[in-house]
Order: sequence, then C-alpha cells, then structure tokens
Amino acid sequence: MKVNEVSATDSLGTPAESEKTALPRQPRSMRRRAFLKTGGLAAASVAAIGAGILPTRMSAQALSDARRNDRAPITRGDIAVLKFLQALEQVEADLWQQYSELGGTQDSEVSGVGAGNPAYAQALQLLDGDMPQYIHDNTDDEISHARFLGNFLESIGESAPNLEEFKQLPSSTADGARQVGRLTNLTQLTVDTSFWSRYRSITNPDFDPGAPFAQAVPSLNSGLHTAIPRSNDDTAGSVINLQDPTKSTFTDKLKAIAFTAGFHFAFIEQGGTSLYPALAQNVTNLEVLRILLSIGPAETMHFQTWQDKAGNALPLTDVDNGPGGTGASVTFTTLANAQGETDPESLKGDTLQANLIMPEPTHFLSKDLPPVAIIRPTSDQLGGAVASFKSFMDDGLFIGQKNPEFFRTMFRLARDADAARRQI
Ligand SMILES: [Fe+2]
Ligand SMILES: [Fe+2]
Repeated sequence: MKVNEVSATDSLGTPAESEKTALPRQPRSMRRRAFLKTGGLAAASVAAIGAGILPTRMSAQALSDARRNDRAPITRGDIAVLKFLQALEQVEADLWQQYSELGGTQDSEVSGVGAGNPAYAQALQLLDGDMPQYIHDNTDDEISHARFLGNFLESIGESAPNLEEFKQLPSSTADGARQVGRLTNLTQLTVDTSFWSRYRSITNPDFDPGAPFAQAVPSLNSGLHTAIPRSNDDTAGSVINLQDPTKSTFTDKLKAIAFTAGFHFAFIEQGGTSLYPALAQNVTNLEVLRILLSIGPAETMHFQTWQDKAGNALPLTDVDNGPGGTGASVTFTTLANAQGETDPESLKGDTLQANLIMPEPTHFLSKDLPPVAIIRPTSDQLGGAVASFKSFMDDGLFIGQKNPEFFRTMFRLARDADAARRQI
C-alpha cells in the first residue's frame, strides 16, 4: 500500500458502516493531509500503523496525534450523545447556580446578587465548614461542562440544544437569589437516597435485578421537600453570627433544608457518575470518547465529596409547616452510628455505615468473576440518557414546567443518545 493511499479511516480497518453514518466533518483528503502533517509521521510509521504494528520510536505527541486522527470519524450517534450531555449539563448548571447564589462562596464567578444567604450557607456548614467553597466549585464545574460541550459541538458544525425558552420556573425570593427564570425547581424534591446503600452493598442493580437498596433517609424519598430557602420565612428564627458561625443557632426547619440539600447534591452527582460511563460505551470517535472519559470522573469526584458530607447530617425531625410549606415530614438519623460492613457483605442493600464512602466491591459481568469496586449502574437501561433524565423528573426538578415541549425535547435528545451504537 502506498502511503498516499492510506486514509484516516482505512488505516485501522474501520468498517464501512461507520463511514455511512459519519458526518462529513471535512473532506477525506484534508483529513489525510492533516494526519500526515500533524504527527509529522514518516511514511514508514503510517504504514506500520496501517498494518497494526506500532513503530518503536514514535514520540508521545506523534502517537497521540496519530490516535486522534487515525480512528473512526465522529458519527451521528456521537453527536446525539454529546447533545444530550450538553443539555443535561445545562440542567445541572441551572440547579447548581441556584445553590451557589444562596449557599456558595460569593465571588464574581458564579454568584448571585452579592452576599449570598448567610443563614443557609451557615446551616450547610453544619455538614462541613468547606461547603460554600465546594458548592461554588461544583457550580463552576457544571457551567464549564455545558460550555465546553457546547463549544465542541460548534467546532464540528453542530449546535448545542437551546433550552432558554424553558427557563420559566421562579427563583427563590430569599435573600441572595437572583430573580431570573430557572430550568429547575429545588423546592419540591423527592430525593431517592438509595445510592447510599447501592455503593455500600455487594449487589449491583445492573447484575442483580430486583436487588433491594435501602434509603439513607427514607422520608426524603416521599413527599415534597425544599433544598433551598424558598423565602426569608424559611430562615426566620435562626440567629446568625456572621463573625463566628459557631455561635449561630438554627431552626430545625433550616437545618432540614440544608441537610436535604446535602443529600440532593449527592443524588445529582451520582447520576452523572453513572451516565458518562453508560454513554461512553455508545460512542465511536476516540476524541469524543476522551471527552466522556474526562468529564465523567469529575462527576464522580463531586459525588464522592457530597456523599461524605451528607453523612454528617445531625439527627432531627421536621415537618414543613408554615408559609410555603408542603407539609412533608423528614427525619435525619445519625448515619455515623450505622454499622454494617458485614461478613458476608450485604446482599440486602441495607448497609448505611456513613464512612463507607469508597465503593464496596460488587458483582460485575459474571458470577465467575470476583466482586470488584466499580461505578454502578453503567447499563443504558439504568444509567443511560433516558434513565438519567427520568430520574431527574422523578426527583421533582421540573415541577412547574408548563411547556411540554421541554420534556419532548429532552426525551428526544435522550432517546437519540441511548440509540447511539459504537461502530468500530
Ligand atoms: Fe457535569
Ligand atoms: Fe455534575
């Protein structure tokens, strides 16, 4: 084979099928020229890659360029995955922005109208003194995910989903919140806290269908709970010492709101933790795969932080009465007291021990293989795009969204993403 006959896709024997569904990103001849140029590869190196043999002395940069340019092109499925993820990152950014305006460190990056909401921010610090910084940074991260994915889509001639018209949910009227339309509602949440025992159990929802997983906070999984102060009524009665937070006192209502947020943070981020590896299995192009493999673990870093902090919730029971209340009751227990790293490990998914924040080894792929510490679920069915968006709906994030087109748009994007198939 002559070097100038080696094309970007032929050289690794990419099936013809992927070419059919590939986007015309740029003319083939251009890709080939770019490939030959960017790596500065000698003809022999190209031929060697074509034959599946790596030359012994290829620079790391040349190898990286060759890999990037020499694999399958970006497919329609890849675009669908990226578009759904970009849309969901917009949703994440919207909810985190609300948390940051009220409870995050205030600066010029992601903050609200100025001083935040000191009562809420201090109540959150009952979970960890660094909560405002973490909230700020999680927000910053989600904004960067949405922006990067949007710009990447643009760089390949695609556009990011436009959700602007759906930002019509009201803001909190509590001090600190901007008065703008929102995509998400943080005031009527039903938080599934079963992720807690899922990561502490030997059973895996992908591998053990029907396996039970106990709720860390059962009462959060029913009724409608607010995770932010809806108005200044929700912070009334707490006495805040701005100089010395240890001298502040908080109503059970405000503590319940802050602890609800703590578990909600973890709920949201465990979703991203499963979503990225689930969708990564559907993509074809190596650079797209690299994007998913690089953003996904950042979601996991968020989740890991939040589940550690949520375990510090103090015991209390509160009923959401009073102005704006939903009547929902919530009870937090001292999860630090829960014990249960048992032998045999829990098959009932009832382990709640707070400090088991490292994933317990779990069933994976085959009963003939030993348990292994992994992210779970990672199947399309349980961790894919439709499953993820549906879990956000079930969470109550979109209660009040009156435009059905929002749901049609998100489900169409999600179905397209789940339908993507790896083509090499
Ligand atoms: Fe994200
Ligand atoms: Fe996230």
